[in-house]
Amino acid sequence: MIEKGLTMRPRRETFAADYITETLSAAEFGLRFLEAEEAEWVISVLTEYFAATRNSDSPQIREAHRVFISLETAAPTSRARGPQPASTPNHPGDIEVLSRIANGRRSVRWFSDEPVDRRAVDRAVGIALESPTACNRSPYRFEIFDEPSDVRRVADLAMGTRGYSHQIKGLVVVVGLLNAFFDERDRHLIYIDSSLAAMSFVLGLESQGVASCIINWPDIPERELKMRRLLQLSAAEKVVMLIAYGHPLEGSLAPYSGKQSVTEARQFRNLEGAK
Ligand SMILES: Cc1cc2nc3c(=O)[nH]c(=O)nc-3n(C[C@H](O)[C@H](O)[C@H](O)COP(=O)(O)O)c2cc1C
Repeated sequence: MIEKGLTMRPRRETFAADYITETLSAAEFGLRFLEAEEAEWVISVLTEYFAATRNSDSPQIREAHRVFISLETAAPTSRARGPQPASTPNHPGDIEVLSRIANGRRSVRWFSDEPVDRRAVDRAVGIALESPTACNRSPYRFEIFDEPSDVRRVADLAMGTRGYSHQIKGLVVVVGLLNAFFDERDRHLIYIDSSLAAMSFVLGLESQGVASCIINWPDIPERELKMRRLLQLSAAEKVVMLIAYGHPLEGSLAPYSGKQSVTEARQFRNLEGAK
């Protein structure tokens, strides 16, 4: 939030006054155990914040600044932290590649015996992790299985793998982390954020010749409990979906999946006449 304030145009002299005290206490606590890189980010954002608000007459900001100075944190070693120049999309021609990958992707459920290189999976995970997440909290983990008996045990817990679970080559359990958020009102964010990442993951696999199929994780308490036990999940961890992947089996079939046309799915609107 503070960093967002730092990127505002025009930047205000007073901002974040109502939560800077709380932020600083969290930072003070966190700096005791954060990795060096993250600690440096915290310090540099706060350094920049107090520089930006130096003329503010907010008592909260002044007091927080005094506490910040007393922390005697090391000065950040680089300016690679804190607000960055906004990126400018500049990918001429890439829409053709992206369209080809998106149009060519279909859910594949039958896989060849060719093993999937874990490096390809990791590249796809890397792409998934670039997805936007609410407040950049990345509230999910990918638990990945590629040992045949493990894949089958996990896949059989979901209902939607009946008849083909035995030959899935790799399986991702996308686990949402509810403890990434403070408020109940944000419970849905694990679903949104992990779904955004899942799609990027799928396209990342697809672009390396690895096919996949999203698998529903049903909201059934007894299955939830079994999965929780099998994967040793904590109470704050919630399965969002599974993703089966592998090299497509030559000659196998996939159901036809018609898509909405662009003109069906979207309307450019204006609010003329709205009350
Ligand atoms: C949230 C979600 C849950 C899904 N669950 C299953 C499932 O349990 N089993 C399955 O075989 N396919 C499942 N699918 C795949 C869909 O059937 C498939 O995406 C849809 O029919 C469209 O086909 P396409 O992916 O080939 O475009 C699921 C897809 C999504 C997005």
